[in-house]
Amino acid sequence: MREIKEYVDSNKQRFLEELFELLRFPSVSADPKYKSDMLLTADFVAKKLKEAGAENVEVCQTAGYPIVYGQKIIDASRPTILVYGHYDVQPPDPLELWNTPPFEPTIRDGKIFARGACDDKGQFYMHVKAFELMMKTGTLACNVKFMIEGEEEVGSNNLGIFVQENVERLQADVVLISDTSMISLEHPSLETGLRGLSYLEIEVTGPNRDLHSGVYGGAVANPATILARLIASLHDDNNHIKIPGFYDDVLALSQSERDELNKAPYDEQDYKDDLGVKELWGEKGYTTLERTGTRPTLEVNGIWGGYIGEGAKTVLPSKASAKISMRLVPNQQSDKITKLFTDYIQSIAPKNVSIKITPHHGGEPVVTPTNSLAYKAAQKAILESFGKDPIPTRGGGSIPIVALFEKELGIKTVLMGFGLDSDNLHSPNEKYDVANFYKGIETIPLFHKYFAELSKS
Ligand code: BES
Ligand code: MN
Ligand code: MN
Repeated sequence: MREIKEYVDSNKQRFLEELFELLRFPSVSADPKYKSDMLLTADFVAKKLKEAGAENVEVCQTAGYPIVYGQKIIDASRPTILVYGHYDVQPPDPLELWNTPPFEPTIRDGKIFARGACDDKGQFYMHVKAFELMMKTGTLACNVKFMIEGEEEVGSNNLGIFVQENVERLQADVVLISDTSMISLEHPSLETGLRGLSYLEIEVTGPNRDLHSGVYGGAVANPATILARLIASLHDDNNHIKIPGFYDDVLALSQSERDELNKAPYDEQDYKDDLGVKELWGEKGYTTLERTGTRPTLEVNGIWGGYIGEGAKTVLPSKASAKISMRLVPNQQSDKITKLFTDYIQSIAPKNVSIKITPHHGGEPVVTPTNSLAYKAAQKAILESFGKDPIPTRGGGSIPIVALFEKELGIKTVLMGFGLDSDNLHSPNEKYDVANFYKGIETIPLFHKYFAELSKS
């Protein structure tokens, strides 16, 4: 531990400068105008892996954005850790809400502000620097493989193919990912599950053109009104989802599992204050921690139609649309839920409009083991670097590829995230605490050390 701290201390500034360089690339995967920046980011990641001591570094082409691969095999008899991360980020919009520009990283109050600071550049880069540390201090205890992709934020469609085509190359004993949250530096935690996702778009069409809302209003169904009604019929008064069959495959947690999860520190007033809401909302009968971690949900991510420009325009729109996501928990299946949603909407939609539903991407939920050697190694690493046992939590977000690693490679994952839920992921002013960045770099080598030790015995 002392050797680790010394190395981090004497390279602190450089680590941060390198991360800043990475954060300056506007690697937005959703918007094709950033294509050349995406390719430059992949090259930069490859260069940094090489400099840190990785071998066989390759920028692997796919039908979309490249996947950066690199490895260091020290001894075939040692266990192998596959590190996964993503160099793509979410679009920075709305730009006007950022206090400083999203791709000009700045430190305020000990926090790095930039798009991708936490999700996931700041987090995967800790692994690159921890690897450098282990190489430079001659302490690398496990074989390491890096797979850093560029399409996580748009559904990882090509990563699935890459994994299928590279089953041999990706063989490992555990997948290690830092792309989730912890409670706080005072309350270190490990996420032990991720929700799945079913994401789709719904378009409601009424008349064959936009109409004068005075001339025709009152005689023709307004698609925006119909869409609002359809959306309003997705939850009942207890905020249960009304889609028939939606909960059929949900694995209920036992009372002791629920009690365990509810032990995590949570202050409702702080939670509300942080978000600026007077009351919380959610499925009746469940706590906030259960609602976000263990229960499925349905959210409207965007809704539009008609005139949304400056001033007023009197119009009865021809079309209205919404983007809807459903977060899934074991054993719900993404495709099945998409179908149930579609069937339900079709069954309740009035005849005066037509409905088009287009699925976007999906992913399956996962629960990661808490009795594996790798999980024990993560517990020991955190205990040593934080001085406290990690609290197991369930994350509300999704990393669809985790279920795929299990299915295609037969490898389980450890989610050792160092971000905070309040780091403004996908929001304006995304941030990452400098302290969490360094803490991650100190903890990762301990994971490697304990995973090697536990695998021996
Ligand atoms: N890193 C997040 C997921 C996450 C964040 C998990 C915090 C747990 C805690 C990831 O980059 C992400 O945003 N995933 C998307 C899904 C993807 C298919 C676009 C999500 O969860 O919305
Ligand atoms: Mn992420
Ligand atoms: Mn994300």
